[in-house]
Amino acid sequence: MKNLFRALLILVFACASLVPVCAQQANGADRHQWWQDAVFYEVYPRSFADSNNDGVGDLNGIASKLDYLKDLGVDAIWITPCFPSPQVDFGYDVSDYENIDPMYGTLADFDNLVAQAKKRNIRVILDFVVNHTSDQHKWFLDSKSSKTAARRDWYIWRDGKGPGEPPNNWVSDFGGSAWQFDPTTNQYYYHYFARQQPDLNWRNPAVKKAMFDVTRWWYQRGVAGFRLDAVDTLFEDPNLHDNPVVDHEKNEFGDPVEINKYNDKLPEVHDVLRQLRSVADQSDAVLIGETWTSNVAELKQYYGLHNNELQMPMDLMFTKLKFSAPVFREHIRNINAAGGWPVYVISNHDIVRSYDRYGDGQHNDQIAKVMAALYLTLRGTPIMYYGEEIGMKTTPPARKEDVKDPIGRTGWPKEKGRDGERTPMQWNESANAGFTQATPWLPVPPTYKTHNVADESRDPNSILDFYKQLLKLRHTNPALLDGSYTAVNEQDPNVLAYLRTYKDQSVLVALNMSNAPQKVNFDLSPNGFSSATPLVATQASASGHIVSLEPFGVFVGQLTK
Ligand code: GLC
Repeated sequence: MKNLFRALLILVFACASLVPVCAQQANGADRHQWWQDAVFYEVYPRSFADSNNDGVGDLNGIASKLDYLKDLGVDAIWITPCFPSPQVDFGYDVSDYENIDPMYGTLADFDNLVAQAKKRNIRVILDFVVNHTSDQHKWFLDSKSSKTAARRDWYIWRDGKGPGEPPNNWVSDFGGSAWQFDPTTNQYYYHYFARQQPDLNWRNPAVKKAMFDVTRWWYQRGVAGFRLDAVDTLFEDPNLHDNPVVDHEKNEFGDPVEINKYNDKLPEVHDVLRQLRSVADQSDAVLIGETWTSNVAELKQYYGLHNNELQMPMDLMFTKLKFSAPVFREHIRNINAAGGWPVYVISNHDIVRSYDRYGDGQHNDQIAKVMAALYLTLRGTPIMYYGEEIGMKTTPPARKEDVKDPIGRTGWPKEKGRDGERTPMQWNESANAGFTQATPWLPVPPTYKTHNVADESRDPNSILDFYKQLLKLRHTNPALLDGSYTAVNEQDPNVLAYLRTYKDQSVLVALNMSNAPQKVNFDLSPNGFSSATPLVATQASASGHIVSLEPFGVFVGQLTK
């Protein structure tokens, strides 16, 4: 009897210890949250597809392009703010978090978009503007109405230092003081961005509750997660210390250059992220962060000490790297060493497109393919930006009168604004690139004649075709899906090369980041491989250990024994 009991006990313990192993095997690997396998795609709704021909894109327009996105290999779309808004900052000034701006459609259109996307296994992510609302939001209208208003403390109100003097020296990211005087109550309110974007007071529990409820509301509508806008600046020093100023330096708006010691990345942000995450976890939702960090240690903090904050803090440092094999190699090493799941981005609606950032004027299309091969074959989740897959370029307005972006209007000519990277999607060669039949809200760049979806779909050498090949491979090749990352030929100044390895399968990626041909010897016999068979390649070939790469050539190959 005693022995039987002992045997039973051993069995129970053995099973218990087996559970994690079984769970891992069922998942195929030691990871596989849905967002780790997914490829994300940022849609700027104003500029994607205009279904009602008013010159501005809309939700039905996006729905009409879902087949295109599916065919491309996209698993989740992040739509930048489509909520009611005075559009001072093109939607990043939200006046109602629980509705759709009529210019983009209705809630019914949104539900339809989610349903249509679901049919194609595409998830929908919304953009949650957490730092601030519009000054037309009912919360702010109440807050500014009197010092005793119910929502007075939902925003940051302070007395000035003296007549005409703001409470401290903080400058707005959009130019000028970060404080706006309001004569109704003779106090200033704080705005990190435009004065029409007052900062919410996240120290107030009622604000937290209202904002958490917004996320619940959208999760119930089928939203699979949020990109959290401007999380870095959620909190400010309650004592309003002046920020240190860099002597004698002025920024593009003519303001003093400040170190944002007291209004950026305050530790309190992590409490909020943990709480937002626990709400998200109830719906298997993902939180993506707009995390402008200056080093890997800062980025690491956003995952949370116990991986309980953002699942996907964006590596925006990646967008600032020089086009150089050693520079990327070192950055990737540091990111992998940090231990979080990497989230690589090469373009978005706020920065010059990677096509222009890296293009040398002569090999731009080929360089666009190098960048695609790089971030679509790395370990981590990529977030694409609409139009990147066809080689869209940044085309800033030529004249100040044409600028739409508020920062371009105040910062011209030093800061031309972000219109250039928000131009309409180039669908085909017809008028307005097939985006609209009306006058588009931003002009279509002349490059739509050479870079558009219709033409590139027919061209096996196009950037679009290359993206499709890579994305297909990424979704089907176990080493690219699940594999570890190992840098190879680490001393090579021109060719960035690495292995992705899963079980006994390895893929070699070799990217020539120089404008000269390179012949590289990959002696991988110590790893048990004798040669590499191309899976996706352009301007490259392999023979035994040797991979030959033309200027900016790309080789992605399966290693064979
Ligand atoms: C984020 C958005 C940017 C916007 C700003 C203010 O940085 O990406 O477009 O202007 O927040 O909301």
